[in-house]
Amino acid sequence: MGSEPTTAPPWPSLEGLPLVRPTSEAWADAALGDLDALLVDHAWCEYKAATAGLGLLARFPGEPHLIRPMLTLAREEMDHFQECVERIERRGGRLGAPPADRYVQTLRGRFAAEGKGLGALGDTLLINAFVEARSCERFRLLAESLERRGRDEELGEFYRRLADSEWRHWTTFRALAVGALDDPERVDRRIAECAGMEAEIVAELPLGPRMH
Ligand SMILES: [Fe+2]
Ligand SMILES: [Fe+2]
Repeated sequence: MGSEPTTAPPWPSLEGLPLVRPTSEAWADAALGDLDALLVDHAWCEYKAATAGLGLLARFPGEPHLIRPMLTLAREEMDHFQECVERIERRGGRLGAPPADRYVQTLRGRFAAEGKGLGALGDTLLINAFVEARSCERFRLLAESLERRGRDEELGEFYRRLADSEWRHWTTFRALAVGALDDPERVDRRIAECAGMEAEIVAELPLGPRMH
């Protein structure tokens, strides 16, 4: 559908991601400082990504072009969820209950509060696009941080692989938004507007062993 991001995207770009504010190294320190808690939070993020993808099919039944991409995405997210659960179990931990996800909740709230959106489907696709993009950036940071410290090469490779998946997912959601609206310029304008809002949310949230 001719909707892949170009090398010079029309929104503020952080290594090809629609992000204004890079995550601080202090976040990586806080996250890797309690790997058990990080893995539990991360596992639930994967679970929520899978269910959010499938949830789109029930919420927008008039959009059959969502079915195949969301089936593929949900399968990948469930694989990531399983990998996280296996890591938690190998470390003698427990999955437990899902922690609160203030980042996604706040992102949804601010998108809804901000009037000039792309409509319910377009904005929902872009919320998912931002979550995938921020996750991609943070997995890259975790991998780089582990490499720099010479720590746990295998875990670094895991994060590197997930960063590549989340990169694909962010481009999938953007492409679906472009396809749904048939207006790449409008979608990219909305991405550019919302990148600042996403950065504010990231700045407001406390650092800790959480993905967001
Ligand atoms: Fe994932
Ligand atoms: Fe994803």
